[in-house]
Amino acid sequence: MSSALTDLFPYPIVQAPMAGGVSVPQLAAAVSEAGGLGFLAAGYKTADGMYQEIKQIRGLTGRPFGVNLFMPQPEHAETGAVEVYAHQLAGEAAWYETELGDPDSGRDDGYDAKLAVLLDDPVPVASFHFGVPSAEALASLRRAGTLTLVTATTAEEALAVERAGADAVIVQGLEAGGHQGTHRDIQENDGSGIGLLALIAQVREAVSLPLVAAGGLMRGSQIAAVLAAGASAAQLGTAFLATPESGAHAVHKQALTDPLYVRTELTRAFSGRPARGLVNRFLREHGPYAPAAYPEVHHLTAPLRKAAAKAGDPQGMALWAGQGHRLARELPAAELVEVLLAELSDAGTALSGRLDGGEGR
Ligand SMILES: Cc1cc2nc3c(=O)[nH]c(=O)nc-3n(C[C@H](O)[C@H](O)[C@H](O)COP(=O)(O)O)c2cc1C
Repeated sequence: MSSALTDLFPYPIVQAPMAGGVSVPQLAAAVSEAGGLGFLAAGYKTADGMYQEIKQIRGLTGRPFGVNLFMPQPEHAETGAVEVYAHQLAGEAAWYETELGDPDSGRDDGYDAKLAVLLDDPVPVASFHFGVPSAEALASLRRAGTLTLVTATTAEEALAVERAGADAVIVQGLEAGGHQGTHRDIQENDGSGIGLLALIAQVREAVSLPLVAAGGLMRGSQIAAVLAAGASAAQLGTAFLATPESGAHAVHKQALTDPLYVRTELTRAFSGRPARGLVNRFLREHGPYAPAAYPEVHHLTAPLRKAAAKAGDPQGMALWAGQGHRLARELPAAELVEVLLAELSDAGTALSGRLDGGEGR
């Protein structure tokens, strides 16, 4: 299943971009050096902050890597809901001895400036979350020699990605940690997320682009499953979040396998857009009424999350994690890539055995 994308790196393993300081250049470089594709996350950074990280990773590896951008968000019709939510969070601000953030601190995440940097000094791969770049932007990146990937959470979104002219689709299942890359956040669609294997099959029949599968993948055997289902590579977030190279807060890393956290949930509590995290106090208390207002809610809760992290209090932090979090391993990133490849190979051998030998018939 060779494509321009898979020809860039030898192994079918992509380290998911993780904004919020998780996928730092050291992590991305380690994965790329190990033969996977490492990713930087430009989300929540300035264009210059993103560029500094690009320069850093170039100093760490000569191998291909990717940069991930958030798409600008449309205006919301209803702003009152954010004010109400701010009132509901007043007790949190008092508890953490901080102020709530300004919900109107910008809704485009510096997209145009970041795109300009990527066109000025091109990177091997660029991916996009929360929507589809214009056909012109994708064509410009292609002319600059950059391969483009866009997240889709339904077959319809994947078709939109193909029509716009991207090089590959990141198929993100409901199991995924962090934000769902849904193109338009519509509250009525809550609960209609699709599990990864069901989604890959639908997207595979809808588009002919190469697919990168994401969501809940923690073992090589699962990577074998998504490759068998038609993906060209697997994108893992939570598995790499646990590595020593990841910039995630130590409390966040520990929580992944702490038996205190029995499950994950999709919530708008922290950002206003559905994102999967470990169920903690903040999520339990505020998730039920948090409005569909991204990125206003993200800006509003930023000081709370920062204060909770500073205090080392996991109950007030956004503990993003996929459904497979309990299988997280604290291995160095390069070793994790190796172990995943060995498991993938074992799964392939086991599958051929089943097909050839009649075992289990
Ligand atoms: C902490 C965290 C941050 C994330 N940030 C981003 C991001 O900035 N951009 C993006 O495209 N995806 C982001 N994601 C989603 C991943 O790309 C991917 O879909 C997800 O990690 C896959 O599920 P898994 O965590 O179960 O492996 C993030 C995921 C996590 C866990």
